[in-house]
Amino acid sequence: MLKDKRILLVIGGGIAAYKSLELIRRLRERGARVRTILTRAGQEFITPLSVGAIAGEKPYIELFDLQAEFDIGHIRLARDTDIVVVAPATADLMAKMAGGHADDLASTVLLATDKPVLIAPAMNPHMWSQAATRRNRTQLEADGIAFIGPSAGEMAESGEAGIGRMAEPLDIVAAIETALARPHAGLPLSGRRILVTSGPTHEPIDPVRYIANRSSGKQGHAIAAAAARAGADVTLVSGPTSLPDPAGLKTIKVSTAREMLAAVEKALPVDAAIFAAAVADWGVAAPGAQKMKKGAAGAPSLSLSLVENPDILATIAKRRAGRPRLVVGFAAETEKVIEHARDKLTRKGCDWIVANDVSPGTGVMGGDRNSVHLITAKGVESWPVQSKDEVAQALIARIASALAGVAT
Ligand code: CTP
Repeated sequence: MLKDKRILLVIGGGIAAYKSLELIRRLRERGARVRTILTRAGQEFITPLSVGAIAGEKPYIELFDLQAEFDIGHIRLARDTDIVVVAPATADLMAKMAGGHADDLASTVLLATDKPVLIAPAMNPHMWSQAATRRNRTQLEADGIAFIGPSAGEMAESGEAGIGRMAEPLDIVAAIETALARPHAGLPLSGRRILVTSGPTHEPIDPVRYIANRSSGKQGHAIAAAAARAGADVTLVSGPTSLPDPAGLKTIKVSTAREMLAAVEKALPVDAAIFAAAVADWGVAAPGAQKMKKGAAGAPSLSLSLVENPDILATIAKRRAGRPRLVVGFAAETEKVIEHARDKLTRKGCDWIVANDVSPGTGVMGGDRNSVHLITAKGVESWPVQSKDEVAQALIARIASALAGVAT
């Protein structure tokens, strides 16, 4: 698969740089042509001579190198390749990429490239879990950068354990193959089918009245739009909202929870399903065929008998045949957000839960901003407060990585 592929490998300054030499060997064994950029910090760990000897050509080092500029030039270096791989990607390189810096050859090439970029982070576990690095990671994922690793284990330099070890060379090779195999590489969800539910449902009491909730549909619609922008074939099943139908995807409008379930089942099979709708938990047992009249029952009160609606998320997550590879639920909570969300993850059988606090003071319901926690089998990640569009973009980037089989 890698025969005759052109790979530009950026080697950052970390102790894991020694593994990059083996990565180059593995890639060349498979017939790939490997060009290298060795950062100044990278040279503290491995030498240009060893990189050049193993790659079969000298590494590029300086941005303002007259000879190198005559030979190829940094813009061509960025583009005359099938993929750019950064291994090891240090916290500093990630920060530069996220901020769009271009103050050395590596960062300039990463900013100038029009090819897919895969990064293999390697750093101390504390650096990896710092808020700044987490922010950069979320940003890079939203920008379409693919990740491999880091994995858990002991650090080479300090013996400290935790997440931060660079992925093994053969795993990086596999991630490169996956990234290159993606149809129309460049758009992270090209060739994927994605289903999104959004908005409230309306449960009729009689022909003119209904039970509803405060969901605006903004978050679900933003997710569907972000998936379409990322190249997916998207079906949005939406309850009643005042939002326009997003461009570039199919919107199916429904009213009740039962109608939503039917539309969702009809849209299968999909690669990933995201259940952002605020589905009414109960519907009226016997909605009136005619408008109900005041005082008709002879008393100034009215009792409605409610029956539980089908749980759409749980129904799809627990399907034996045709279950989407990734099922993502939402948990709108007003207290003990993470605890309740974890419980929902197991109860409903989904893979991830996006949990948010929708207490009245937060302004999330109907508002434009959202503060979410992503709950997976691996643990909880708390994302910074962002616009609903930013949350959508970050979630879609994460889903794209998961579907591509890249460690998330
Ligand atoms: N959901 C669904 N169908 C339902 C109810 C909920 O698909 N009938 C989905 C929502 O779209 C969301 C997730 O389940 O992705 C959690 O919704 P939430 O209303 O927070 O959970 P409930 O099941 O209603 O749990 P509880 O009332 O105990 O909070």
